[in-house]
Amino acid sequence: MTPAEQVHPFELPHRMRGLQPTLIRQFFERALPDSINFGLGEPDLPTPDFMRQEASRVALEEQNGYTSHPGIPALRDKIAEQYPHLNLPRTGVVVTCGSQEAMTAAFLCTIDEGDEALLPNPSFPAYDACVRIAQGKPVYYRMPAGRDFGFDIEEFKKGITPRTKAAVVISPSNPTGRILTPDDLQQIAEALEGTGIWLLSDEIYSDLYFGERPRSASEFYGKTIIISGLSKSLSMTGWRLGWAACADRELINAIQVLHGFTTVCTSAITQKASLLAWTDEAEAAKKHARDVYKSRGEFLVDLFDKEMGLHATKPEGAFYSMLDVRSLGDDIDVAEKCLQNRVITVPGVAFGDEGKGFLRISFCNTEERMTEGVRRMKEVLLD
Ligand SMILES: Cc1ncc(COP(=O)(O)O)c(C=O)c1O
Repeated sequence: MTPAEQVHPFELPHRMRGLQPTLIRQFFERALPDSINFGLGEPDLPTPDFMRQEASRVALEEQNGYTSHPGIPALRDKIAEQYPHLNLPRTGVVVTCGSQEAMTAAFLCTIDEGDEALLPNPSFPAYDACVRIAQGKPVYYRMPAGRDFGFDIEEFKKGITPRTKAAVVISPSNPTGRILTPDDLQQIAEALEGTGIWLLSDEIYSDLYFGERPRSASEFYGKTIIISGLSKSLSMTGWRLGWAACADRELINAIQVLHGFTTVCTSAITQKASLLAWTDEAEAAKKHARDVYKSRGEFLVDLFDKEMGLHATKPEGAFYSMLDVRSLGDDIDVAEKCLQNRVITVPGVAFGDEGKGFLRISFCNTEERMTEGVRRMKEVLLD
């Protein structure tokens, strides 16, 4: 150590202290060989062939330099058209490296040191991390386990304080698979009206629904930042195509500036191929994904009931269900036992204390693999 280092030992900046990889990753990384993966939220359906063909053509035939920071104009126009109710100009959209980047940027552009952000409990752990990176304070509203993790406006309202700067909604939800009804969204809008609070609407699963198409919170509340992308609907997680969309010029400009300084632009090859993401072929691929996940979800919930006598929430979208393992003990212990018998799950507490006693089960698996997974779980938990 140099004398200067002895006097001033290095400490991470406050915004980074205590940040850890999520429990989702921690479990996944300890998985034994040939494990059944009920853990990661990653589609197992192949990326549609027309997308792969187009990306390979673009890579071979075109020069792929930087694009403009917020993305190629034609792609931004296509994204803007997805939200006709907002009548967004092209400048209302920033194309990002996956929706994760859009989410991080949205928090950094709305939260200042000490500000509060209202997050669902349970919810995707990245929200909590992003709020802390922005040096804000996460505050939670319960999505009560006792109501199968459905929305409760009274819980939401309880979390709002004069320090609240942002609130998050996610529909369909990771980890519960639940969808917010138009009524829920209307109540949220009424609760937020006049408060100046930004609503971050995570719509990454919006194409994966099993009944009515979920509505966007932006249809109900003006100060909404939409966060979305192609990762889940077209099995393109590794392609890194996401976006932020917002009608407020100042806010979306801030996101654009931050994006320019963090990633410059997302891959030109990905962006150009993604122009095909709204063609008839792409819409057929999204519908196929919906049909497959819907039938798998029904199959799995039924299997848990029949084979293990356990209740799992009925998924309305995405590819998740919460399995109630309270009768079997602590969720971390239960997930650990499953892991040792080569089944990856995620303890519900990874998503907040409301998830305690549950496992998040992702059904990105064939029926055959899911049957084997449930057999292994039964063997280690019940037999
Ligand atoms: C709720 C939610 N939001 C955002 C993301 C980020 O996805 P991506 O960055 O691939 O768009 C994920 C990924 O698992 C997610 O589950």
